Amino acid sequence: MADGGQREFIRVADAAALAETAADRVLARIAANRDRVAICLAGGSSPKQLYRLLATDRYRGRLPWDRVHWFIGDDRFVPAGDPLNNMSMAREIFLDRFAPPANIHPIPTDAANPDEAARLYERALQSFYGARELGPARPLFDLVLMGVGPDGHTASLFPDYPGLEETRRWVVGVPKAHVEPFVPRVTLTLPALSSCREMLFEVAGKEKREILTRLSTDMTLPANRARSLGETVWLVDKAALGGESS
Ligand code: 6PG
Repeated sequence: MADGGQREFIRVADAAALAETAADRVLARIAANRDRVAICLAGGSSPKQLYRLLATDRYRGRLPWDRVHWFIGDDRFVPAGDPLNNMSMAREIFLDRFAPPANIHPIPTDAANPDEAARLYERALQSFYGARELGPARPLFDLVLMGVGPDGHTASLFPDYPGLEETRRWVVGVPKAHVEPFVPRVTLTLPALSSCREMLFEVAGKEKREILTRLSTDMTLPANRARSLGETVWLVDKAALGGESS
């Protein structure tokens, strides 16, 4: 695999163009792997338009649903079905209609606590991967979707939180979030998220301007530290960059 240091920034007109570009990249990643495909979804509001697009006639018929497995990069520690639950949001928008149930891999937020949920999800990922150590030549995911929070967090890796420095665990519990919603979280760690062929950030809207400016100078922020072992691509729309809004 390529050295993961470099990032590519792709500027798109607006949120709709961003979702289309992302959907085309999802299809391209799936087409590049004729075998079982693993996609790690993102939570929050940024990927919703992409998920809606994947459910349209234009895209859903082109997805080989039987061989694509769907994971989630982080979740809020709330029960499945709660409006704050990231995987439930993705299930509602597209997964439950098209993906075989066995191919949907939610974080078990019904576990006793976030640490226990993290242990269980780590085990599930290791069993899917077929090993307890990640090998650089064989990435865990084909594609990892990411968003950026107002404090520069990504997944639920918040600035200065210990989970950010994790080098061994694939998944950790986060007792308290740094930004809203202030519920405990469970998140994949940088080593697990980086084990992918492509990491795709979606950043749209003028409310992202301030954090994009900070990210351009502070390389210690979590979103800057998240890099794929393969390609890392940032899709950013004009409104987020400070151009005319869409
Ligand atoms: C979460 C997310 C988080 C999100 C960013 C961006 O559970 O909140 O996974 O990392 O991607 O906070 O959120 P928005 O897309 O809502 O701006």
